[in-house]
Amino acid sequence: MQMPEEMIANNEGDNLLLNKLPGYIRYKNNELMIEDVSAMELVREYGTPLFVISEKQIRQNYNRMRRAFSGYPKCLIAYSYKTNYLPAVCNVLHKEGAGAEVVSAFELHLARKLGVSSSKIIFNGPGKSDRELEMIVDDDIALVNADSMDELERIDRIAEAKGEIVNVGIRVKPEVRNYFVWSKFGMDIATGQAFKAYRRASELKNLNVVGMHAHIGTQICNTRPYTESIRQMVKLMSRINAELGIEFKYFDIGGGFGVPGFTPLFPTEAKVENPATIEEFGESISKTLLTCVSDYKLPEPTLVLEPGRIIITDPVLILTMVEGTKVIGGSTKTVVVDAGVNLLMFAPYYYHRIVPVVNTGSAKEAVDVYGPLCMQMDVLGVNRKLPVLKRGDFLAILDAGAYSISLSQQFIRPRPPVVMVTGRRKRLVRRGETFEDILRLDIL
Ligand SMILES: Cc1ncc(COP(=O)(O)O)c(C=O)c1O
Repeated sequence: MQMPEEMIANNEGDNLLLNKLPGYIRYKNNELMIEDVSAMELVREYGTPLFVISEKQIRQNYNRMRRAFSGYPKCLIAYSYKTNYLPAVCNVLHKEGAGAEVVSAFELHLARKLGVSSSKIIFNGPGKSDRELEMIVDDDIALVNADSMDELERIDRIAEAKGEIVNVGIRVKPEVRNYFVWSKFGMDIATGQAFKAYRRASELKNLNVVGMHAHIGTQICNTRPYTESIRQMVKLMSRINAELGIEFKYFDIGGGFGVPGFTPLFPTEAKVENPATIEEFGESISKTLLTCVSDYKLPEPTLVLEPGRIIITDPVLILTMVEGTKVIGGSTKTVVVDAGVNLLMFAPYYYHRIVPVVNTGSAKEAVDVYGPLCMQMDVLGVNRKLPVLKRGDFLAILDAGAYSISLSQQFIRPRPPVVMVTGRRKRLVRRGETFEDILRLDIL
């Protein structure tokens, strides 16, 4: 299969990444173990494809992040639901103390259903509907971040009609050097648009202006874009404080923290990134914010973090079976597996490690790994070094937690079950769909 050059990760990268498998995975007697449960046992019980989640790894990731930011006195970690809003995943995080960053009425409904207190819910998004704004107004959530002037006016009108006051922030756009700049969100700091929005918000009677928000991208691999962003935001806060008298309760820097062993192949690079650790992000962000607010003599706001990928990427893998093998063009060895981009929509853009479920010890060969869908883009890995495979063998596709379950599709097949593993325990947290599930909403 011809892939654009930039999408082909090299084998050196593969080796580097495979040396650092997530801690919950190991081989015992050559068989892949997920925590203390054998992958073969899961395959036999639930079939393939199968999403498997390590509960321990979710907890570890969350607590590691919490500790990494402990140098800042007040932090709210609001897990970015859209990354993976499987209720069982969110529940584990809420039990650890995480709040929720939501971007739709459905996500807000889910957060409330899971018992998240309004004081830990942040509502974002560039196009909130009236229905969503009504739910927000009714719910008294901690912070709704407006993305446009028009949205501020609409929140105010809806709040007025309901006789409520809404806690708002504004999503601002700092100028940062990032590998991929997100341009469609927020209001520019540099052109003065963000300041104007705050001035207008301060005039609107039904808004309580309490926050400033920025989310500068995803899979950010070094601390510089954050520190650049924080400096510009605090400078703006200081001006707003001086001229409009607004005191900021929340300073929300969004998510975006790069995931180790997970390489962005889009838009231009296929190299193995070695992102800053979460400890490095935590220290640098906390210090920069503390220094900046102290320099401008501002009170310390609560630092809001909206992590997605860094929490949920590595705790999830997909077990998949080899449906067949073939050689294309006389030389390219390929395997076709039963999981495809219907389950891992971003597979063509992000690198997913692929490992055998049974490590036969046979010499490795380079293969392309294709999904089962009738579309050219259904490719999970190119030029991967794997033991010689035959139909009926199993593979694990790693780093599969972000934008997989929440974006998985019923394209020609029902969606598979999801199992959560804790130590020796395994439990079904979403059953596999049936044909009837897919047809349930249709009217003949
Ligand atoms: C506003 C906002 N916050 C948080 C996130 C989570 O980002 P990440 O998964 O890169 O941490 C996103 C994702 O794009 C987002 O749009």
